[in-house]
Amino acid sequence: MDQGPAITGKSIPRIDGPVKVRGQAKYAAEYDVADLLHAAIVSASIAKGRVISIDAAAAKNFPGVVAVLTHKNRPWFWPFSFLYKDLAGPPGKPFRPLYDDRVLFSGQPVALIVADNYEAARDAAALVSVSYEREQHATDLAVEVSKAYKPPRHRLGLAPTPHPTGDADRAFLASPVKVEASYTTAAENHHPMELFATTVEWSDKIVTVYDKTQSPKSVEIFLKVALRLFRRKVRVVSSFVGGAFGLGLRPQQSVILAVLAAKALKRSVRLVLPRDHMFALGYRANAIQTVSLGADENGRLLAIKHQAVAATSQSEDAQDPMLNFSASLYRCDNVKLTYQLAKLDTVSPCDMRAPGAATGMFALECAMDELAYAINIDPLALRLANYTERDQSENRPFSSKALRECYLQGAERFGWAKRSHAPRSMRKGKELIGWGMATGVWEAAMSPAPARVKVSLLADGRFEVTTSITDIGTGTYTILTQIAADALGAPRERVVVKLGDSALPFNPIQGGSWTAATSGSAVQAACDKLKKKILLRAKQTGIVGNGQATELLSPAALADLLKLSGSDNLSATATIINVKFGKKYASATHSAVFAEVRIDEELAVVRVTRLVCTVAAGRILNPATARSQIIGASVMGIGKALYEDAATDHNLGRCMAHNFADYHIPSNADVYDIEVLFVEETDDKVSPIGVKGLGEIGSVAVAPAIANAIFHATGQRMRDLPITIDRLT
Ligand code: MOS
Repeated sequence: MDQGPAITGKSIPRIDGPVKVRGQAKYAAEYDVADLLHAAIVSASIAKGRVISIDAAAAKNFPGVVAVLTHKNRPWFWPFSFLYKDLAGPPGKPFRPLYDDRVLFSGQPVALIVADNYEAARDAAALVSVSYEREQHATDLAVEVSKAYKPPRHRLGLAPTPHPTGDADRAFLASPVKVEASYTTAAENHHPMELFATTVEWSDKIVTVYDKTQSPKSVEIFLKVALRLFRRKVRVVSSFVGGAFGLGLRPQQSVILAVLAAKALKRSVRLVLPRDHMFALGYRANAIQTVSLGADENGRLLAIKHQAVAATSQSEDAQDPMLNFSASLYRCDNVKLTYQLAKLDTVSPCDMRAPGAATGMFALECAMDELAYAINIDPLALRLANYTERDQSENRPFSSKALRECYLQGAERFGWAKRSHAPRSMRKGKELIGWGMATGVWEAAMSPAPARVKVSLLADGRFEVTTSITDIGTGTYTILTQIAADALGAPRERVVVKLGDSALPFNPIQGGSWTAATSGSAVQAACDKLKKKILLRAKQTGIVGNGQATELLSPAALADLLKLSGSDNLSATATIINVKFGKKYASATHSAVFAEVRIDEELAVVRVTRLVCTVAAGRILNPATARSQIIGASVMGIGKALYEDAATDHNLGRCMAHNFADYHIPSNADVYDIEVLFVEETDDKVSPIGVKGLGEIGSVAVAPAIANAIFHATGQRMRDLPITIDRLT
């Protein structure tokens, strides 16, 4: 058959686009299940203490209510928290909903109403009266920072904060030029469009769980162990996910509570967590950082000191790579990084797009801008003066690094050369104009867990590619289709990709920007195997002449082959295991972001009128979906810089926002021109298919580029995010 031109690397439209826009793609709360019950949570109104009593009489009598579940009557749990671990959990004791009378954070679910319709469950929840023994809570990071501690090492997938190199304290003191400043970043909540929701279809033998998650396989394992479902077959389905920026890495309260209710009642149950409950799920940790940069008069870095204290909960040491990139991005012999946590009476923070990096790089890249102004050199020239071809913290070369090209091509595209250096030197009418830039970096990693893919020849001549990983809107269906089509020499219409189902081959977590590299490599390997198998079989059965064909067979010939071979034999599986380079190479994705802001001088309203994002991420599988990743991440970066603030009322120990009226994210009118350029980067070491991943990198450099642009426009150095009108005077 005609192999046709390769489609990997081309902008083909999303495979899942049509079913999504037609409303045919089913999300977790949309599955029709017979005799379904609906649940609603009652959440704690205090931040710390004990539940003394729960008066649920009125709720129980409410028409339609079937049961009220609390810590007193829930199904039996293991008393051991170590059995409650999930693949992505940090050290410590995970939160167990309805476990006991302890209240660990405001908004914690303390009761679950189950009714035969959603409205009854919701209305009855409002009738539950809970009395508490209140204890003094601590929710203010600025206060708790005095009790900061060094966290124990995270178990899985997270590189520890790099060791110090040289003597940064001494080198800083001896530096001719010094900048030192503190930066604060607000807590941020995840707000994917799809709410966290679970539909449990209960039966004696098999429990099917339709769940909003980034990791069906991880949820399956968790439910079997933690909720003692190991005697039943558990299948977790998450075919479509309406966005998830890290909150879906761990089993959420929704799946735990829905399964508990289903288990208690032996009935099918649905639980949708409402939007206001998003503020009681994991959040991007707020942090207080100090960066000290020492340099010579030409801007060559002599010392980097970067300290951070980030929020965590009382029970878990949630952590992310906040400082890691400060050790490797620039050439500097003396680096000292101090990463600490401070415990708060909140839900555990969790990963959120470019976890750690988006926070740590904000401080480092703003400090670099401050240094550029201290020396009076161009901020881009300062970055180039400190460019490094090696990761000095580990003394390794990069598997590839086209950051220089990102800087140069981005500057060219943006028109950076036309910038006048002095603050407040550019304006148009009543608006001050500011141009700022920042560097982005994120690790280019393979999944820490193995990824398994099966490819089968179907009776109709199509190929089915299956693996349990989800597509969280990143374009996974599409890129895996492209890779399979090319590897098999088949048109894309003959490739069917099935994802998001724990019954499919083991491939646990979509995240870390590793899915394309890991799952893509597994698809490539499985397809290569199957192709060899088919050609060999074709030769053996005489269906093709010499078996030397570089093209695969026609659908008719494949059908004949299938008849002769039996379907079981015409499939292949491949497992990709994390490729570690040992000590040989460091690998990272890079970006350079150039931002233009226009600020109304009287009203201090900031508009981000232009962003140019240049990205070096190895091989780009699909420029359209890749661009979409960077644009989405950039919009989040605008939110981080200007709007998003999960501020706590420390009196109540509760997040002040309950909806999008209080919690601001960029709206369409806040987003102007975002241009994305991918810089060519060939890398045969980073992953078998040369891909680095794109999920996180787009979120790293946008906020500091905007903050630096605001300084350029106004002369005001904004070190606290978000940069709201009240802070900008
Ligand atoms: Mo990402 S923060 O691993 O979803």
